Amino acid sequence: MAKINENYLKLKAGYLFPEIGRRVREFAQANPGKEIIRMGIGDVTQPLTPAVIKAFHEGVEEMASLATFKGYGPEQGYDFLREAIAKNDYLARGVQLSPDEIFVSDGSKCDTGNIQEIFGNDNIIAIGDPVYPVYADTTVMSGKTGSCQSNGYFDGIIYMPCTEENGFLPELPTERPDLIFLCFPNNPTGTVATREVLQKWVDYATKNQCIIFYDAAYEAFITDPSIPHSIYEIEGAKSVAIEFRSFSKTAGFTGTRCAFTVIPDELMAYDSDGKPHPVKPLWMRRHTTKFNGVSYPVQKAAAAIYSEEGAKEVKAVINYYLENARIMRNSLQEQGYTVFGGINAPYVWVKTKNGLTSWEFFDLLLGEANVVGTPGSGFGPSGEGYFRFSAFAERANVLKAMERLKKI
Ligand code: MLT
Repeated sequence: MAKINENYLKLKAGYLFPEIGRRVREFAQANPGKEIIRMGIGDVTQPLTPAVIKAFHEGVEEMASLATFKGYGPEQGYDFLREAIAKNDYLARGVQLSPDEIFVSDGSKCDTGNIQEIFGNDNIIAIGDPVYPVYADTTVMSGKTGSCQSNGYFDGIIYMPCTEENGFLPELPTERPDLIFLCFPNNPTGTVATREVLQKWVDYATKNQCIIFYDAAYEAFITDPSIPHSIYEIEGAKSVAIEFRSFSKTAGFTGTRCAFTVIPDELMAYDSDGKPHPVKPLWMRRHTTKFNGVSYPVQKAAAAIYSEEGAKEVKAVINYYLENARIMRNSLQEQGYTVFGGINAPYVWVKTKNGLTSWEFFDLLLGEANVVGTPGSGFGPSGEGYFRFSAFAERANVLKAMERLKKI
C-alpha cells in the first residue's frame, strides 16, 4: 500500500498565492470586462534590461555552435558567475567569500525550503509572524512540526510575532530554537534590520549554537546606507548563518530563474553526539545529487548585472519600483491609512480601516476597486488586520489603483 507523507495533510489546503489567483480568476469570470490591477504577488513587470538580454542572447548563440556548445554545467554554478557574485555582492561590502561558498540555483523559494533537508527533524525552528509562507509550510512538510492549532500556529514551531509595537522586528525567543529564519528587508512588512539588530541575532545564534537562515532576496531595495545588505557584514555571522539571495527581484528574473545560497566554510552543525560537522559539504552533496544546475544562458544573463551597464540598468529598474512604493505610501497615507515599509523594500504594509479583517479588505478592494493585494493574515496570524501591496506593478497601474482606492 502506498503511504502518503502525512505532514502534507497538516497544511492549509492551498499555498497563499495560488489561492489568491483562484479567487481573482473567479471574480474575473463573474465580472467580464472589469479591468483588474494586480498588486498581490511580488512578481516583476519590467522586462529584463538590455545588457542582460544581450548576454542571454550570446549564451543562446553559444549553445548553437559545436565549438561553444555546453552540456551539463557545474551543479553549483559556473565559476564566472560565482566569482562575479563574490566580488560584487560581497567583497565590495568588505565581505571575503570564496566562490566555492556560493551555490547557484533556480530560486530562493526552493533553497529556503530545501535547506531543511540537511538538518535533522528534531531541530526546532523559529520564524517571524507574519512571514513569507514558504518557511512555515516547508517546515511542516519536512516533518518538524505537530498539527495546526486553532490560532493558526503549528505545534513545534517557535513563532516570533512582529507587530506595530515592536516595530515589526522579531524579538529574541525565550524558548531556545536550533534554526532561525530571518528575512530582511522583510517580506511582507518591508522592515529592515540595522547592524545592531543583526549583531544581536548573530550573538544569540553563536551563544546557543543555532543557525540563522537569512533571506536577503530584497537587499537590492535598501536605500539607507547604514543598513547591511548581507548578514556577513556582521562580525561572527559566517559561523552561524546561511544567506539566500535571488536575481528575481533584483534583476527581473522571476520568470527566468536564478538565485544563490551562501554557506561559509566555517558554518558547523552538530550530530547526536554533539560532534561538529561543516554544513557546506552536506549542501554540496544534496545540490549535486538532486540538481543539475541553472542553464548556461541564464547564468550568462545573471552575470551581466555585474557589468557597468548592467548594474546601472538594474539600479534604474529598482528605482522605478521604489518610486512606485513612494507613490503608494504617500497616497495611502493621504487616504488615512497607517502605512509601513516601502522605503527600503518593494512592499507597502498597510493597516486596514474600520477593523476589517485582511480577507474582508481583500474582498472589498477586489469587488469595489478591482485591485488585488495580499491579505496580511496569509503571512501568519499576526498579519491579521493588515494588507500588503506590491510595488512591482507598472506605474500607470499604481496611479490608477490609488485613484480607485480613494473612491471606496
Ligand atoms: C511574494 O509575493 O511574497 C513573492 O513574490 C513570493 C516569492 O518570491 O516566491
